[in-house]
Amino acid sequence: MEQKIISINSVSFSYSSSLDDALVLKEINLEVSPGEFVCFLGQSGCGKSTLLRLIAGLEKPTAGEILLNSTPIKGASLERGVVFQDYGLFPWFTAGENIRLALEQKFKDWPKNKYKEKALEALQQVGLSEKIYKKLPKELSGGMKQRCAIAQAFAIEPSILLMDEPFGALDAVTRARLQDMLLDLWTRQDPKKTIFFVTHDVDEAILLATRIIVLGQSPAQIIFDCPVPEISRENQFEDLEILKLRNELIRQINKDVAAHSLNDA
Ligand SMILES: Nc1ncnc2c1ncn2[C@@H]1O[C@H](COP(=O)(O)OP(=O)(O)OP(=O)(O)O)[C@@H](O)[C@H]1O
Ligand SMILES: [Mg+2]
Repeated sequence: MEQKIISINSVSFSYSSSLDDALVLKEINLEVSPGEFVCFLGQSGCGKSTLLRLIAGLEKPTAGEILLNSTPIKGASLERGVVFQDYGLFPWFTAGENIRLALEQKFKDWPKNKYKEKALEALQQVGLSEKIYKKLPKELSGGMKQRCAIAQAFAIEPSILLMDEPFGALDAVTRARLQDMLLDLWTRQDPKKTIFFVTHDVDEAILLATRIIVLGQSPAQIIFDCPVPEISRENQFEDLEILKLRNELIRQINKDVAAHSLNDA
């Protein structure tokens, strides 16, 4: 049987460290193979970021376990790169220094001059020029900061990339550009990274993912899990199979919203 890179086994989670009524996630089971691009969809507040934080090792399951290559995850690690919506760059370091710092932590035995060289290369890969190396994050636009964060995450060559609504704060044009850039970076690498990507946007999920998982709320459970055929931006709204999938995803999300608003009434 193919080796799974991540196995989530009966994971429940509560921020109050007890298994009573404050459960955020309930008995999540999920197996992911190397190279999958998994998008999580679900209502705001359902627990998507929490699940990502658990995979990152920033939180521990209250019950169950998460295995990385068959070994339980214990704490955060540079094997899992993280990109959050607020970019995650240190404001007092320049864009280039941020990337260099991450490289120094990950690749401790490189010769000294290699760090800057690789940081510049990483910036170039996301379409940023050498000038950007010396700019502080506050001197950059949102799209540039997000490019830097992605450059940094890819530069440390993690086997898993965790992305929490990384394009949520961007305008539509910049967002489309960065989606293409991310797909390009992901496709070019061999072997491909395993990506977990949270979004509210059904079309973004369909464009990027090889697999989409819808989380229901209160507490979060997997209510839908499906593969996504490879598509291009051009045929995204023409392909009948894709349109059917889009409708089904929207139906699943709305069904969950309706079920919970009835409970709340
Ligand atoms: N640090 C925390 N302490 C206590 N409760 C928390 C904490 N972080 C999140 N929660 C609660 O856990 C639940 C899930 O939050 P989470 O941030 O995972 O949702 P989300 O699906 O990522 O939402 P959004 O789409 O709005 O980002 C929410 O009810 C939230 O209030
Ligand atoms: Mg969130």
